[in-house]
Amino acid sequence: MKDKLIEIIKEAGELLKEGYFSNKEVNFKAKKDLVTKYDVAVENFLKNRFSKEFPSFTLIAEESDNTDIKFGDSIIIDPIDGTTNFVNQVPHTAISVGVYKNKEPYIGVVYNPILNELYEAKTGCGSFLNGKKIEVSKENDFQKSLISTGFPYTSGSNQNDLNDVIKKIEIILPKCQDIRRLGSAALDLCYVARGTYEGYYEMNLKAWDVSAGILILSEAGGKISNINGEEYKLFDDKYIVATNGYIHKELILNLNAK
Ligand code: IPD
Ligand code: CA
Ligand code: CA
Ligand code: CA
Repeated sequence: MKDKLIEIIKEAGELLKEGYFSNKEVNFKAKKDLVTKYDVAVENFLKNRFSKEFPSFTLIAEESDNTDIKFGDSIIIDPIDGTTNFVNQVPHTAISVGVYKNKEPYIGVVYNPILNELYEAKTGCGSFLNGKKIEVSKENDFQKSLISTGFPYTSGSNQNDLNDVIKKIEIILPKCQDIRRLGSAALDLCYVARGTYEGYYEMNLKAWDVSAGILILSEAGGKISNINGEEYKLFDDKYIVATNGYIHKELILNLNAK
């Protein structure tokens, strides 16, 4: 299944690339939440091909109405993760596809066609970037750790969420090497998986932002949890915390500090 999945995702990548380099109209789902015709076109392309190739899987996708769709044997799609980057030609944007069997992660693929980087993982088989095995960093000193995060779209309208973002940065920034906000949750998880970042956290993500990245990270030796250090629940948890494992406890402690 993985080879076929990758073949289709690479084809969809051509569409993303075409959109990235063209002038495009931008629509607003909310103040900070952008969408273009390419988000919809990439999603439709993937859904069309997946439903033919993998008819037993339900398809859950960002730009679709998912109300009556049951999560079980499912393919969870983010057609363009990092739409703000896509719109502004920041080359940090990707297609993210996570395959679940009986609600458990089975295959994850994250493809950035602009930088030609394809991350993939299958349960029990490790993680790969363009065919080369990747592993998390071995850094265990929080002060030397590069941490990534994201700002929720709700920070434009919800004062509590904005306060929470600022508070956590205030606590973490002096204690770590530095903080990045590159604008694609799927790639953030892959960057922890490849050892570029030691850790990553963010609030208010959706299942399609992380469905593939969490498998790619766990297969690369990383750890994923909610903000209490418990198992991260794809559709329920407010916070995701993802690290190389070595700094996990300290990141959790800092995220909970008052
Ligand atoms: C967004 C990106 C971003 C994160 C947002 C996500 P989208 O996804 O992953 O990094 O901070 O919370 O919603 O909307 O570009 O697919
Ligand atoms: Ca979006
Ligand atoms: Ca996304
Ligand atoms: Ca998206």
